[in-house]
Amino acid sequence: MPTPIIFDTDPGVDDAQAIAIALAHPDIELLGLTTTFGNVTIEVATHNALLLVELAGQSIPIAQGAAGPLVKTKNPPPGHIHGDNGLGDISLPPVETQALKQSAAQFIVDQVNARPGEVVVVAVGPLGNLAAALQLDPGLVDKVKRVVVMGGSIREGGNVTPVAEANIFNDPHAAAKVLEASWPLTLVGLDATHRCVLDPQSMARIVEAQGALGKVLGESYAFYRNFYQQALGIDGCCPHDSCALVWLLRPDLFSVERGYLSVVTDGLAEGQTLMAPESREFVDSRWSHGTPADVCMNANGSGVIDWIVETLTTHRSP
Ligand code: BDR
Ligand code: CA
Repeated sequence: MPTPIIFDTDPGVDDAQAIAIALAHPDIELLGLTTTFGNVTIEVATHNALLLVELAGQSIPIAQGAAGPLVKTKNPPPGHIHGDNGLGDISLPPVETQALKQSAAQFIVDQVNARPGEVVVVAVGPLGNLAAALQLDPGLVDKVKRVVVMGGSIREGGNVTPVAEANIFNDPHAAAKVLEASWPLTLVGLDATHRCVLDPQSMARIVEAQGALGKVLGESYAFYRNFYQQALGIDGCCPHDSCALVWLLRPDLFSVERGYLSVVTDGLAEGQTLMAPESREFVDSRWSHGTPADVCMNANGSGVIDWIVETLTTHRSP
């Protein structure tokens, strides 16, 4: 049976590729996309989600969510990484469909309650929608099957500050609520995603296989690739958000440690994620909120890339 998922996203070049996987993979039942600010404004995020689903020839509910962080002042979107339009500033066709009237948080609550114990929420942007859903229905912690978050960094260091990963940094207060809650949670952060580099030749195979959607994935990848060349000196891109789906379907490609997660919400280390290993005791219990999470500490990079390429060259949206 395919796994029913809600995909919470701020598309975003790597989000777009992950959406293509979620739409195409036969082992995923995509219940809907929920959108958040992050790589782009909330309006652009929703526009891009609608467009990507249209280009795949599918009809999937899309619910708009958080326009900004819970507490801190919103950072400007990182146009130099994803482009001002979130898809590498390429020209895009017009969008014909519309988002639901329902909010992202309400959509998550309703879908999880309709199928208690079955739904996995995969969140690959700032975590305001999941924090709001938890506030609407605290019982979600026992009804969601699992929450998979692309975000954070334990030993790898940060990508927007020396210690913080972008999704957590963009809304650390929401991240603290989500990562410290007592639900089954897997964190797929930079410790794993930085081991995975999608090279241009592999991307070309995906473009060829994915039709109109592939064209957008390929052209936006070219912009994102420039950023990686300048920032990290590598020829290729880290497919951060796809890695969350890879973990869901191929957990054997990751090394996982169990630990309690915390998020630093203020000060110089704002947005840093901490993990207190389950097996260790510290001077007091401040670092042990909720239940221990599964935290991806490493990945089989070539295995992950092979899986992504295989998925997007074998399965195409109808
Ligand atoms: C994360 O930040 C965003 O820029 C990407 O889409 C990904 O979700 C990586 O740090
Ligand atoms: Ca993202």
